[in-house]
Amino acid sequence: MNILVTGGAGYIGSHTVLSLLNNDFDVIVFDNLSNSSIESIRRVEKLTDKKVTFVKGDIQDKAALAELFCAHNIDAVIHFAALKAVGESSTMPLAYYQNNVNGSLCLLEVMATFKVKHFIFSSSATVYGGDNNVPYIETMPLGEASSPYGASKVMVERMLNDVAKADSDFRAISLRYFNPIGAHESGQIGEAPQGVPNNLLPYIAQVAVGKRKSLQVFGDDYQTLDGTCERDYLHVMDLAEGHVAALKWLNKQRGFTGVEAFNLGTGKALSVLSIIRAFEQVSQQNIRYEIGARRSGDLAAFWANADKANRLLGWQATRSLEQMIEDTWRWQVNNPEGYL
Ligand code: NAD
Ligand code: WQD
Repeated sequence: MNILVTGGAGYIGSHTVLSLLNNDFDVIVFDNLSNSSIESIRRVEKLTDKKVTFVKGDIQDKAALAELFCAHNIDAVIHFAALKAVGESSTMPLAYYQNNVNGSLCLLEVMATFKVKHFIFSSSATVYGGDNNVPYIETMPLGEASSPYGASKVMVERMLNDVAKADSDFRAISLRYFNPIGAHESGQIGEAPQGVPNNLLPYIAQVAVGKRKSLQVFGDDYQTLDGTCERDYLHVMDLAEGHVAALKWLNKQRGFTGVEAFNLGTGKALSVLSIIRAFEQVSQQNIRYEIGARRSGDLAAFWANADKANRLLGWQATRSLEQMIEDTWRWQVNNPEGYL
């Protein structure tokens, strides 16, 4: 089967491409490399000893997409391509709606023209918003998004529902990721943020390796066990395998039409301080940190109820926190400048 992976050179995309190749899918990556490097794909090819068809292009370029669908017999699309910095989305909302919402719209239009009906979407725990109780479960309503980034994910989920209502052959899955961290165990591919990392793990890793002086912990006065925020961190390879499980499920469901959402998380929440301590133990480095102000938009704690993915997809996260941190650390030490 030919799988088109948009954004496949990025962090989660590259790990998923590796899992797809190891499961004998043929992969075509379409990426504009705005937040990634072609080197990730080269390394995936080396690790798997398989070839990836790479096309550089933007999902808003419908002519380029049409050319690609013409040249390859695409069976399904996994759609990662998006801008993903929550804070930045508040300062440049239009860029986020343009890229994430209009980009998805262009892709879905070209898919419709070429009658490609299977779609897997990178959604996020952020679609539950702040008003739902934890743990989040798929039966909850989509929440009031706390950022334009979050709103863009909610909008695409809504768009998929409407497309499915209008076309009974269309089948889509929204995978709602919690907090993916870690790297492939080889230390060859991983998360390579440009500039100052927004997310916790890449920031800690850069402090541990001496690239940054100290971490700001965003608040220690939350209603949690140690006062710092709690999140559901999962290994990026578990997440990658979740996509393969979702694709296999989509392929074998004869009766299913419409859109199905699945949470991908471990079902457990860990605090910022406990992550720092675990990182110190694994890396044997002292992580300097200071307690700063709360970050606007942060929620105290959220984690997944991931029973549905287990029940229907046969998927569950299996890798431990220690493995997540060991793999992050190996990647960071081997590649202090990312793919550069
Ligand atoms: P990433 O930035 O590493 O990967 C995104 C990829 O898409 C990059 O390679 C980028 O170059 C490409 N891209 C962006 N806009 C494009 C466009 N218009 N045309 C073609 N390519 C384009 O991010 P990631 O962490 O791998 O995230 C992948 C997806 O998962 C995103 O949709 C993101 O919103 C979603 N997600 C990520 C997280 C997370 O914590 N990393 C959590 C939940 C959901
Ligand atoms: C984790 C915890 C911070 C950095 C975001 C998006 C979410 C999803 C995943 C895409 C929080 C704390 C962080 C730092 C800190 N992405 N922190 N100092 O905010 O849970 O989720 O990424 O869909 O939608 O919102 O992840 O890694 O930024 O933060 O104290 O320098 O670490 O306050 O509690 P977050 P994160």
